[in-house]
Amino acid sequence: MAPVARETDIVRLLSAYDRARQNLIPILQDVQEQLGFLSQDAVGAIAEHLQISENDLFGVATFFTQFRFTPPGRHCIKVCQGTACHVRGSGLIMEELSQKLGIHAGETTSDREFSLERVACFGSCALAPVVVIDDKVHGLLTPKSADELVDEMGSRRDETVSEA
Ligand code: FES
Repeated sequence: MAPVARETDIVRLLSAYDRARQNLIPILQDVQEQLGFLSQDAVGAIAEHLQISENDLFGVATFFTQFRFTPPGRHCIKVCQGTACHVRGSGLIMEELSQKLGIHAGETTSDREFSLERVACFGSCALAPVVVIDDKVHGLLTPKSADELVDEMGSRRDETVSEA
């Protein structure tokens, strides 16, 4: 997970960019790298810097699945939606995990434990369908085995809590 910068760091970050609209995507990427997500305050600061409306900014940012508007969870689950994974059922895995966690891609569970993301090819197509959890690649999954992986993450959390 990216280091979390203070909101005031955003002002410094923005000062490195001209107020040109074509800088919107690089700025969004840079801010998300720093904060881990695009906070409401950051969106406001970026829109003001580029002199565009927040609606315009959202219109562009929501077009790209890489941008998130809620803080990431403690565990980040990325489901590959590349072609090889797609034809081998990654859509069903996404559906299963979405239903299990009660969130859609781009969202975080209310306890901030899990976030779910849809991403393009990880370059591990031979293992399709692939899910990456906290940067660890899990391949040749089925909806059931993906479900079990998430259960394992949850039971590790329970162990940590009971040890505390
Ligand atoms: S398409 Fe999923 S790893 Fe390549």
